[in-house]
Amino acid sequence: MTQTATSHVIGQPLDRTDGPLKTTGGARYAAEFRPAGLCHAVMVLSTIPAGRIVALDTAAPEASPGVLLVLSHRNAPSLPKHGDAAFDPPAGRVLSLLQDDDVHYNRQPIAVVVADSFEHAVAAAALVHAQYERASPALDFQRERAHAHTPKDVNHAPPDKRWGDVAAGERVAEVRVDAIYTTPMQTHNPLEPHATVADWQNGKLTVYDATQYVSGVRDALAKTLGMAADDVRVVSPFVGGGFGCKGSTWSHVVLAAMAARQVGRPVKLVVDRTQMFGPVGGRPHTRQRVALGARRDGTLTSIRHELVAQTSQIEDWTEPSAVVSRMMYACPNGATSHRLVKLNIGTPTFQRAPGEASGNFALEVAMDELAVSLHVDPVALRLRNYAEREPATGKSFSSKHLRECYAQAAERFGWSRRTGAPRSMRDGNTLVGYGMATASYPAHRMAASARAVLQPDGTFVVQSGSQDIGTGTYTVMTQVAAETLGVPPAHVHFELGDTRLPPAPVSGGSMSAASVGPAVQAACRQLRERLVSLAVADATSPVHGSPSSAVTIDDGWMIVRDNPSRRETLAAFAARHRQPLEASAEAKPGDAKERYALHSFGAVFAEVRVDPELGVIRVPRVVAAYDIGRPLNLKTARSQMQGGIVWGVGFALLEETLLELRSGRIANANLAEYHVPVNADIQSIDVLFVDHPDYAFNPLGIRGIGEIGITGVPAALANAIHHATGRRLRDLPITLDKLL
Ligand code: MOS
Repeated sequence: MTQTATSHVIGQPLDRTDGPLKTTGGARYAAEFRPAGLCHAVMVLSTIPAGRIVALDTAAPEASPGVLLVLSHRNAPSLPKHGDAAFDPPAGRVLSLLQDDDVHYNRQPIAVVVADSFEHAVAAAALVHAQYERASPALDFQRERAHAHTPKDVNHAPPDKRWGDVAAGERVAEVRVDAIYTTPMQTHNPLEPHATVADWQNGKLTVYDATQYVSGVRDALAKTLGMAADDVRVVSPFVGGGFGCKGSTWSHVVLAAMAARQVGRPVKLVVDRTQMFGPVGGRPHTRQRVALGARRDGTLTSIRHELVAQTSQIEDWTEPSAVVSRMMYACPNGATSHRLVKLNIGTPTFQRAPGEASGNFALEVAMDELAVSLHVDPVALRLRNYAEREPATGKSFSSKHLRECYAQAAERFGWSRRTGAPRSMRDGNTLVGYGMATASYPAHRMAASARAVLQPDGTFVVQSGSQDIGTGTYTVMTQVAAETLGVPPAHVHFELGDTRLPPAPVSGGSMSAASVGPAVQAACRQLRERLVSLAVADATSPVHGSPSSAVTIDDGWMIVRDNPSRRETLAAFAARHRQPLEASAEAKPGDAKERYALHSFGAVFAEVRVDPELGVIRVPRVVAAYDIGRPLNLKTARSQMQGGIVWGVGFALLEETLLELRSGRIANANLAEYHVPVNADIQSIDVLFVDHPDYAFNPLGIRGIGEIGITGVPAALANAIHHATGRRLRDLPITLDKLL
């Protein structure tokens, strides 16, 4: 059978199916839902980092125009307790829900003002005045480091892991690198801030929420409010960026539901830009020691990677930075550990490749330092220590083509033009540096389910309760469905973002495509088989009487393979079948995780140009090649990697949340002073894929690509800056003051 358009839909650089809706304003985001009677809530945040509220003056805001409610610990309904409510979160996070007068961090929600308009709510919120009894806060990471503790786990991995004999490996080492690397506290800044609209009808709750996980929000709301999960519906058709911040259910979601119940009207609560800094997580500050031992030929004999990061007083959340050293290089001896320092800050959270982005920076700069000490090429050092198996477990990789990534990206970049010595490349007065680093991110997958329904006009609705956080889920799932069903993508309408749809996992950990894709494929395959068997049994069908195995569906036609004149369109078929034809399927990960180490890899090469007088750093070029399994859509995949690389530039050169050590306030809680890359910061970004399907991981051969793009970039830039200037800077961001 010849290949036609619909046998090759997966992988095509299809335009986003939701693009027209987004560009015309037709896509509705959480804050744009307006149930009848909608009123507006504004959060009031604490202004001290530790202590107790002793008095809260709500008379003035309550008398303010349009105000319907000032919700605080004094009048908030007491929520059902699960164990010790404050320290035993019912659903993942310890939330600030006005249950007591304690203040654990500056910018903790202490009240919610609800009014008939947003302006009235904002005006009244400014009148809420709290008096506090201050306690002495823990804010100085350096000082509190003495009291660091070991967390129970780091994202389901053990906090400490050793293999081989690291002390013996250090004894035989002929060259050593041992340094401290730090990454700053960073704050999520998706275009769309968090937003929740909560609507109660007859004791049932519907929530329109900006979230990466509709089922997670439903479960958190149900457990926190003491309801049956079936009585909560969460809807999230469009999300303006997630990056990890919308993977958890934060306080404002539950507060919106509490406020709406109290006022008996739907309530909208938007977390404003400054409130994004504090109560809704972000990447914690990390301090990482990486100690490498190697023989003169570059063979690693030992790796130590020790992380100390900060968390809040109310909950442990660990940036799993040292985990990357458990898998990256073929080193027989290793010791990795994670420790936490409790501070009076909001609980940190998943942010853009948590652990990998920060841990990779430390490891990959240390590798560059080792290459410099050994006078070997940084790529050659990585190839010398190429891991054929995951060192900490001995498992082989499901599919690993990193050598190809190094080779292709180096070739495209022109790495061979690099002269080895620092400060040896110039363009006029400008210092030029070439740097590289390895990129990696684990491949995760969870159970997911999907449904496919034939419509009366012969097109299909395909559904899964997943999310599209700007990554292209609508588009790539349309492609998987279209190719599996044998119809053009325009004949598939994909729906997601609703707990009424078949459940799917969080769109986090780069796992949506790899989890939901197989479920969509399975549901569509079942439905396709059903349609064919109905048609061959149908005396009025042109394919009647053929064995099912002889009939295919292609380009929207049901066709007898050996006799293509016997065919009919699915529209004609559907017109005769009035009852809805549908199929549902669940796809679960098999035992791949037990059998293999599952990771994506990449190689990032960067050029920097540094003005030696002013310290200004420009990044004219980044070239990166990735082994991410089979790309589902070359256009969205490339966009996603470019976006990750842009965030990597931000990580390396710009982003830093500044915590005031006396007050625990954030000094730059706005986009004027919290710098993210803008167009002028970004020049050429060239992305390559080596395209080796990973069928050991899932039946589509895909691994997730959400997060690998940011990894490797901070180290590649720091290494390029060293090459340009001879300055080894180990504390991010690398701003011009540090270079001068
Ligand atoms: Mo990602 S930081 O797991 O949403």
